[in-house]
Amino acid sequence: MTNEQIELLAVAKEAALKAYAPYSKFRVGAAVLTEGGIFQGANIENACYNLGICAERVAMSHARMNGCTNIIGIAVNCIDAKISDNPEESLTTPCGACRQWIAEFAPDAWVVTNGNDTVYNLKTLLPNSFVLK
Ligand code: THU
Repeated sequence: MTNEQIELLAVAKEAALKAYAPYSKFRVGAAVLTEGGIFQGANIENACYNLGICAERVAMSHARMNGCTNIIGIAVNCIDAKISDNPEESLTTPCGACRQWIAEFAPDAWVVTNGNDTVYNLKTLLPNSFVLK
């Protein structure tokens, strides 16, 4: 991981403190790096559980609404996750829905998480992703 990626994870950690996660008690923060700056997101849950939204999608929406459409990198920080030495047991990578959003809004971005040192990208997270042509 580069210093830039480590720094973006710190911004994502700060975002996680703004999560609204009274149901899962699993706070997630995301930060997206764009040519026009960094945008944060946090998970926002709802009593009707399936209506909650993930941190990554909030952050990507913020970037888009601020006219920053070129997403270079995404950091996801699950501050309540149990971090394991086995990367496959550190469940801090974006969920399936967020991966599909990455396919739409950040197809060339690198993705880092607090779970391990791996630098992911869309190809590794969602191979053969759906595109409408
Ligand atoms: N969550 C995220 O914010 N991002 C993900 O990629 C996975 C899950 C949130 C959704 C829910 O509020 C909580 O984590 C537990 O699933």
